[in-house]
Amino acid sequence: MTIPAQNDTIYKEIFENNESVDDSSFTWKGTVINMKLWGGRFTGKENELVDKYNSSITFDSRFWRQDITGSIAHARMLGRQGIISKEESEQILSELKKIYDEIEAGTLQIDMTAEDIHSFVEATLTERIGNAGKKLHTGRSRNDQVALDMRLYCRDVAHDISDKLKDLLYTIFHIMEENTDTYMPGFTHLQKAQPITLAHHLGAYFEFFKRDRSRIEDCIERMNYSPLGSGALAGTTYPLDREMTADELGFYGPTENSIDGVADRDYVIELLADFSLIMQHLSRFSEEIIIWNSNEYRFIEISDAYSTGSSIMPQKKNPDIAELVRGKTGRVYGSLMTLLTSLKGLPLAYNKDMQEDKEAFFDALDTVSDSIVLFNGMLATLTFNKDVMAASARNGFTNATDAADYLVNNGIPFRDAHGIIGRLVLYCIDKKCALDDLTIDEFRQFSPAFNEDVYEAISLQTCVEKRNTIGAPGKLAIERMIQKCNDYLSDEIIHNDEEWL
Ligand code: ARG
Repeated sequence: MTIPAQNDTIYKEIFENNESVDDSSFTWKGTVINMKLWGGRFTGKENELVDKYNSSITFDSRFWRQDITGSIAHARMLGRQGIISKEESEQILSELKKIYDEIEAGTLQIDMTAEDIHSFVEATLTERIGNAGKKLHTGRSRNDQVALDMRLYCRDVAHDISDKLKDLLYTIFHIMEENTDTYMPGFTHLQKAQPITLAHHLGAYFEFFKRDRSRIEDCIERMNYSPLGSGALAGTTYPLDREMTADELGFYGPTENSIDGVADRDYVIELLADFSLIMQHLSRFSEEIIIWNSNEYRFIEISDAYSTGSSIMPQKKNPDIAELVRGKTGRVYGSLMTLLTSLKGLPLAYNKDMQEDKEAFFDALDTVSDSIVLFNGMLATLTFNKDVMAASARNGFTNATDAADYLVNNGIPFRDAHGIIGRLVLYCIDKKCALDDLTIDEFRQFSPAFNEDVYEAISLQTCVEKRNTIGAPGKLAIERMIQKCNDYLSDEIIHNDEEWL
């Protein structure tokens, strides 16, 4: 036979010295080696497009570490249970570790023409150690193998995203600490509403991202059970010790039902939902950065590293990174929809449709990961034009509520006070001035309840500092909030991801 092109790299040397058996297998030192894992069942050569359509190596090679790690745990357990001999188990373990190190060092290239990462690792192992390598897959199916790999991978990257969120929380926290008296208008309907501080505004995002982290940690808790040993769907007759492999791989235990073990992708969907919320939060924040950076607002300036110029308009400095974060949000939502849709009609247990979980997940993961990092960099290097922010808080009648509250404190029922201040605002709009600019006589024309102390009561500082209910922008409330943020950040959760390797 001729060497099938797809296996050139791995098998070249072997083919040169050995006799082939049929199109999908050959012998080497007396061992029949299948190039395809299902080579015994199929003899015809698939056409290339089928191979390409079916294969997943171009994307599942990403979790080669998890695949080899899972195989190491499985092979060790097979040896301990006497399902394969101790020597065979040790031979497999030491060769798998070599393969791991070689891929890590770049001396072994993953063959992108293999069907998937599972086939590649097993074929490489068998090529190197012969018969013992062929025993690795005893009591295992690619169905539980891929379910395991995906779970291990998702668990690792979930920790990584959580850590990246923590870095972002640190940046937000530092800006909060430094801006407890940086006044700015707070908005509703994108209309100036009431004055707040920058610390208060950013504190809202601190809460958003804190929840995002906790959602990810929750998902890790739920997904942390090992599907290894579920087999194709119905377990196996071999005396596998599923608890041992689960423990070795850092899981809380094995999954309870073998069908669920291979059919469940809830954790992928949960993570995609978490990623979608992270992107939604980053996108809302980006939108504000874009608005604040506009010529009309000028609240902030984005550092040159995170903005770009225009090819035609020399005066432009565009907030591209913020716009891209906002733009890429849709693509993460898209991945969530892809998975929800792919899974919705699937009968139990494994179906090849499930291979579609990977590209969608990886794309969302890369997007959310880069977005957090870049957003964090942009935020950490922003310049806040504090004077412009305070001036903006001072005009736009952001103290109208406080003026009404002043009248209430002087015995006027709130509904009447609201009406009086409404008329005063109209008067000011006409005069093109702020409430604070009116003389006491002008105030009194609207209500005799106004006294000289009104100026103090409606000053920007009073409007902010007197708001000290829990969660409000006043100094005392903000200090309490910052203390809580500090406590949260100092409460280190240590993940030792390498421990189980
Ligand atoms: N590449 C496959 C996936 O990603 C691996 C599992 C294949 N299982 C099977 N029975 N064909 O889902």
